[in-house]
Amino acid sequence: MIGDTKVLFSGMQATGNLTLGNYLGALKNWVNLSDEYLCFYSVVDMHSITVRQDPAELRKRARNLLHLYIAAGLDPEKAVIYFQSHVSGHAELAWILNCFTYMGELNRMTQFKDKAAKHADNINAGLYTYPVLMAADILLYQADVVPVGADQMQHLEITRDIAQRFNKIYGDVFTIPEPFVGKAGARVMSLQNPEKKMSKSDENPNASIYLTDDPDTIVRKFKRAVTDSEGMIAYREEQPGVRNLLDIYCACTDHTPEEAVNEFAGQGYGTLKNAVAESVVSVLRPIQERVKELEKDKAYIDRIIKENAEKAEYYANKTLRKVKRKIGYPDRIR
Ligand code: TYM
Repeated sequence: MIGDTKVLFSGMQATGNLTLGNYLGALKNWVNLSDEYLCFYSVVDMHSITVRQDPAELRKRARNLLHLYIAAGLDPEKAVIYFQSHVSGHAELAWILNCFTYMGELNRMTQFKDKAAKHADNINAGLYTYPVLMAADILLYQADVVPVGADQMQHLEITRDIAQRFNKIYGDVFTIPEPFVGKAGARVMSLQNPEKKMSKSDENPNASIYLTDDPDTIVRKFKRAVTDSEGMIAYREEQPGVRNLLDIYCACTDHTPEEAVNEFAGQGYGTLKNAVAESVVSVLRPIQERVKELEKDKAYIDRIIKENAEKAEYYANKTLRKVKRKIGYPDRIR
């Protein structure tokens, strides 16, 4: 909360090829919630360097992600869309919050365990304290709500724990954030293994729909999607492949699972797969077209980057000044 205004914060990593999971689990909800809050949408490039990156590639991807935010429907004149690395307050608050976070808590983070297993040659301290930087992102702007996919829930819980611990010692410094997880699309699963989440780091390109995929590729990937031998379209745990297809369809068309099951009653998996592919194409095509236009408008994007970094910094510094006073850093003499 800032004054009387409710605040929304969320972010996405500029790493790898963004997937349909990123869009349906996060970005789509961001757009839907934008009018109700003062919104901060960050391209979290500081989080990205917990895994080794090619510098030129990271710079390019970060900018592309900013284009995508705008192309998906976020209004950069209203929402504060910015790069995390442009606001040094994130790093400053993360350091402070590190001193209020227990190693036992960080040891329990499943994302750390997964990433450490995947990058065994580079298990760095940043990867370990990644959730603390994420807590800093959120608490820096006094966010009331944080729309994320289901896989980020554990990080939201640790953020709340850190904030409550800090507030207990120093008074009401931080707003305690609530996660927002959408009904459909909160956990988009791999098309090749529906027990696993769709992930940009999956080695099999057929497992994920990338936001840059063209219509033919999308249709082909859905045709190859793993289902089952039941031969019946139902929304149930025993049929995770079919359920995932229905979830994607519902998220793209704003239908409920019951409506979708009725619509496809008595039809084959081929019909369902084609309909899902079509619904995805009609969601992604306009976004892809808008991205292409934005790529050409360097001056406009540069202005957005400059102005929004300043706006974000203004709000971040407000919280940071308060935190520094509370913990006993000496006042700066100007
Ligand atoms: P990241 O970049 O991995 O993912 C961005 C958003 O996409 C969601 N998501 C999914 N949702 C549904 N199904 C999927 N298969 C799927 N894959 C990804 C994620 O839940 C997320 O909402 N740590 C965060 C970035 C972050 C952040 C923050 C988020 C940094 N600071 C502060 C919120 C608030 C991350 O790596 O997300």
